[in-house]
Amino acid sequence: MRILGISAHYHDSAAALLVDGVPVAAVQEERLSRRKNDAAFPLAAIEWCLERGGLEPDELDAVVFYEKPMLKFDRILTTLLRAFPHSCRAFAQAMKNTVGEKIWVKGIIASRLGVPARKILFTQHHQAHAAAAFFTAPTRQAAILTADGVGEWATLTVGRGQRPADGPCRLELLREVRFPHSLGMLYSTFTAYLGFPVNEGEYKVMGLASYGKPVYAAEVRRLVPRTADGAFSLALEYFEFHTTARRSYSSRFLELFGPARDPLDPIDLDTAEGRRFADVAASVQLVLEELLIDLARALRRELDLPDLCLGGGVALNGCANARLLAESGFERLFVPPAPGDAGCALGAALVADRLHFGNPDRQLPDHPFWGPEVATADLARLADEDGLACHQVEEGALVDEVVEALASGAVVGWMEGAGELGPRALGHRSLLAAPHDAQMRDRLNLRIKRREEFRPFAPAVPAELADRYFQLPPGGVRLGRFMSGVFPVRPEWRPRLQAVTHVDGTARVQTVDATMAPRFHALLHAYGRRSGIPVLLNTSFNLAGEPIVSRAVEGYSTFRRSDMDLLVVGNALVRKARARTVERREAAE
Ligand SMILES: [Fe+2]
Repeated sequence: MRILGISAHYHDSAAALLVDGVPVAAVQEERLSRRKNDAAFPLAAIEWCLERGGLEPDELDAVVFYEKPMLKFDRILTTLLRAFPHSCRAFAQAMKNTVGEKIWVKGIIASRLGVPARKILFTQHHQAHAAAAFFTAPTRQAAILTADGVGEWATLTVGRGQRPADGPCRLELLREVRFPHSLGMLYSTFTAYLGFPVNEGEYKVMGLASYGKPVYAAEVRRLVPRTADGAFSLALEYFEFHTTARRSYSSRFLELFGPARDPLDPIDLDTAEGRRFADVAASVQLVLEELLIDLARALRRELDLPDLCLGGGVALNGCANARLLAESGFERLFVPPAPGDAGCALGAALVADRLHFGNPDRQLPDHPFWGPEVATADLARLADEDGLACHQVEEGALVDEVVEALASGAVVGWMEGAGELGPRALGHRSLLAAPHDAQMRDRLNLRIKRREEFRPFAPAVPAELADRYFQLPPGGVRLGRFMSGVFPVRPEWRPRLQAVTHVDGTARVQTVDATMAPRFHALLHAYGRRSGIPVLLNTSFNLAGEPIVSRAVEGYSTFRRSDMDLLVVGNALVRKARARTVERREAAE
């Protein structure tokens, strides 16, 4: 059976193709269109998935959209009418945004793909999140918790999934919290207040939180009072996201926390104002963690299952995930590589396959590499056009050469195989560097990633050696598989891991599994033999404001436009002659 899943129209559109219950291809539209967080209907992603599967649209058994547009429209309309006339301007904007292609999804799919309407299915948004988390995890039954900004009405759900070896799969969402009460919206409101772009800047809030103290935790708790059933609500007088598109927090919010940060002002942590923003970030982070832990503990008691699958954009919060693993009572915590809306394309296809059509369960490959492949020949051609030498190197020699470059301070673009689904580069579209000195972090932040200095870089370590360098709780290696948890760096290693140790002594570690990414795993071991520490700095291969590179042409273009020294595509390698000049210039300075 051939099922195409689609997520679109909010942020991070994506498509995924499932053939006989197993993913064949999945990719975010941004990786092909080159527009970051592209929310358009993902025609390029769909086309690529079909091409990869060798299918024409009429060979599909079903096309599944990741949410119910009419239900979402109902939520938007109801919310705006409740706030009318205050919502007058937002109303006009929302109508413009919603009425039109977003609501007539069935028509778009039918007309653009030529698929008959009877083959077009819809899942609920959080059902797609839950399926993406549960059906991809190596567990037969688990509790499920999903949390994001909002889908149709639900913003958080708890439930249970079962994949028996000899019977039909089940996925039950037992309860939900409904819009406007939303942990995702709570965090996004603080993201906006702190001057970062919503849906993108949430990482920055988490990074900034490490510099602060949660001195405003009591104030944040006033914003999210607990409800009698153990869940939470938002005290709506502090918010405006549900009534206006202008801003998400109210004047009363500002009375509690002080003036919002102007996005154009840099955050100076040496000033009282800068520290106030860090303290506010630390406070919302703490309260989010408290809420999630309480919800998860209650679910653990209720369902008495040892495993928890976590989905939705909130599951990208690695600090909260680590605390959930350590404190919720669950023995194992599974977070998929794409817990956000992009992963819903795959989730929606899985809902259709396992639940709608009742197809038998299949154990899915436990990796995120479902995107377009890189071609070594493309790099050779591009380099040749530029007059740069492109060396095709035998595997062992390639690893040796890259290790030598890394050990001497080079920044290496590392591309191999199929690209990652989800926001994290996990060794197929990565920028790699030595993790030892703080100067490397500053160089990457200033010259390549061009981002705020308070944002940390992640380390990658062979899974079997992770515990030596990082304090991982039981289950931590699994959580680190897709870089989903933030854990302390062991104090004795912090001086040698400065570029990947955050100000609070933690790191968002990737525990690299030999079967999932064998070349990257081998590279880490080889680097360990050379430097004494098998850890590399691993950050996504992209420049600020651009999506992660997908094909060799984007990798090469990024290599040429930034302060990188070496580019590896498969077994081909290009070196920038400029690297030595830069070093000499630095030495002279
Ligand atoms: Fe979502």
